[in-house]
Amino acid sequence: MNRGQPDENTVRAALALACRAPSVHNSQPWRWELCDRSLHLYADHTRSLPAVDPLGADLVVSCGAALHHLRVGLAALGWRAVVHRMPNPGEPDHLAAVEFEAREPKEPHVALAAAIPRRRTDRRAFSSWSVPDEIIGQLVRCARAQGVEAHEVTGRARSELLAAMVKAAVVQESDADYRAEIREWTGVYPGASAGVPAANIPVGSRQYGDLRLREFAPGELPQTDNALLHEDAGSLLVLSTSSDDVLSRLRAGEAASAVLLEATSAGLASCPLSQPLEVVETRDLVRDQVLGGSTCPQLVIRVGWGAFNADPLPATPRRPLVDVLTRQEQP
Ligand SMILES: Cc1cc2nc3c(=O)[nH]c(=O)nc-3n(C[C@H](O)[C@H](O)[C@H](O)COP(=O)(O)O)c2cc1C
Repeated sequence: MNRGQPDENTVRAALALACRAPSVHNSQPWRWELCDRSLHLYADHTRSLPAVDPLGADLVVSCGAALHHLRVGLAALGWRAVVHRMPNPGEPDHLAAVEFEAREPKEPHVALAAAIPRRRTDRRAFSSWSVPDEIIGQLVRCARAQGVEAHEVTGRARSELLAAMVKAAVVQESDADYRAEIREWTGVYPGASAGVPAANIPVGSRQYGDLRLREFAPGELPQTDNALLHEDAGSLLVLSTSSDDVLSRLRAGEAASAVLLEATSAGLASCPLSQPLEVVETRDLVRDQVLGGSTCPQLVIRVGWGAFNADPLPATPRRPLVDVLTRQEQP
């Protein structure tokens, strides 16, 4: 290996980890271009979800999560990613240019990368054990290290957030285009390379205590214990940024990845929730009523302890690398 640059196999290994990132409806809306000394991330709008995500915010947050997964993968493989976000003002879909700097991996880098293949979006009810304040504090610090605020939402603010979720669901479910996108992207079967598999969608009610999760196509995942539908003690974190532009959303995605991987390392189950932020009216409600108007909400993350006897969740599919990566030959 040339210590000045990672070889192509190393970059491909890091990219395979990057592409394990969570994305809205598992749409994987990213494209990578590999040059001799740099790697470039682009938003792929051919994979957008115009009815679910009319602002295109989830799309950029998803790309941010992939960018952070890439950084984590490279760090474990001995390379620091030097990231230039939005490097080309004339090309807003060019989200990041990444250069490489050799750096010995440390134990925390390897531990975080090991969480990538273990992380899952878990939509089942969580146990009645609440998440200790120290762990929530650690997740908040992980988001801050990416330049993003994370607030645990409790009390009246939590009621406001849950009301916004219900309101957003009512607005979206009355839209035929939204329902068509849900049918197209969720409840997919083996052989699909994208979308949310039926095997990852719980059977039956998605009402857990005071929380109602998004309705997907019918699922096949059994709830571990129906009593938890009433006892679920999951916590809700809202990630937010000082502005609501593409750069902020990219950073929010990086923070989401950092929080989800840290939660996975701590043994927590987790689930990103974007529904209340996809409808302009409820996005504004969350900003004003939940965050006090001070910052712009970008993603809700639910964390909790899975039931002790919960079966491991299957991995969701990913597009092959050849579909998302192009090699730029230089003269
Ligand atoms: C920006 C974003 C928004 C998401 N919104 C939701 C959501 O509202 N509800 C949900 O159940 N999952 C949501 N997810 C999780 C994705 O559906 C999940 O990442 C994808 O299906 C891949 O599965 P995995 O996370 O288990 O790898 C979201 C993920 C991202 C990155």
